[in-house]
Amino acid sequence: MRILSGIQPSGRIHLGNYFAMMKPAIATQNEAETFLFIADMHALTVLPDPEVLRERVFNVALDFLACGLNPEKSVFFRHSEIHEITELMWILDCVTPLGLLERCHSYKEKVARGIKPNHGLFAYPVLMAADILLYKSTNIPVGKDQKQHVEVARDIAQRFNNRYGDILVLPQEQIRENVAIVPGIDGQKMSKSYGNTIEIFGNEKKIRKKFMSIVTDSQGLDDPKDPEKCPVFALYKLFADQKQLDEMSDKYRNGGYGYGHAKQELFELFMEYFGEFQKKRDELATDRTYIESILKDGAEKARSVAHDTICEVRKAVGLT
Ligand code: ADP
Ligand code: TRP
Repeated sequence: MRILSGIQPSGRIHLGNYFAMMKPAIATQNEAETFLFIADMHALTVLPDPEVLRERVFNVALDFLACGLNPEKSVFFRHSEIHEITELMWILDCVTPLGLLERCHSYKEKVARGIKPNHGLFAYPVLMAADILLYKSTNIPVGKDQKQHVEVARDIAQRFNNRYGDILVLPQEQIRENVAIVPGIDGQKMSKSYGNTIEIFGNEKKIRKKFMSIVTDSQGLDDPKDPEKCPVFALYKLFADQKQLDEMSDKYRNGGYGYGHAKQELFELFMEYFGEFQKKRDELATDRTYIESILKDGAEKARSVAHDTICEVRKAVGLT
């Protein structure tokens, strides 16, 4: 088993990213070989300012390390350091039918929202397939929105193997149902592109304000409420144990308990959970050279696996 996942440095890490991807990937680093990377080349599809991109990469590195990624156990690196990825991508491009990419929801959604697509945005699932297949990864922890992209990677691997022999490993998405779609403060899927996120790190006052602005219905303090219809309760589930959940659920149903109370309790559990991580993050942030050295070491390890696969692939397709 080889676990692999990546995240785009397209903004600050939020609760959806953390619970669907970071937490499960970090949790298994002691038992399974784990590759985690900051997908900076993916972030280029929206042409960020170069300085902003560099700073975001640094911030995502801090976030992962503060949340418990152990660079001795996990291979942690920056995507753009591995040049073999773009070489594999081109080879995979040539076995990928256009129709497969045209069917991708995430691309269609972005176009529907008025984004003028560049070729990078269209071809992005092939880059993601290269990320996965280059390391012969087996398990890919992601949120539900990435399910189709892992399926595309599997499809491309199969097409490649059918033509050139059994070289690439077929990956499997790993989606935890309870965190498959974490809601944002507007109740829709939390996403950096929708402006509805709660970041896991940052100024405490600002974060509290975010929790307080979670959209709820207009029922009054005394009314009995249905916890299962409330985004505050959905987020509370991420942190609470069964006893805490049962207690809050009773308070909702009994009435006399307002959404403001629930938001405050949720915020307190959030602070309890991320408070320690925040301290570690503040310490790490003072040593930029150390962070850079971790990413460099990780890239070296990743490159040695990447090199073996690309040699095999080159030979199979006739490029030697
Ligand atoms: P965003 O949509 O905020 O830009 P990314 O595309 O960078 O997030 O996603 C990084 C990882 O986090 C992916 O595995 C993605 O599936 C997961 N993820 C993002 N938002 C959510 C969410 N609201 N619920 C569950 N998983 C999510
Ligand atoms: N496309 C993913 C996202 O936007 C990030 C990503 C890039 C990824 N390459 C990957 C995730 C490979 C899993 C495996 O969230």
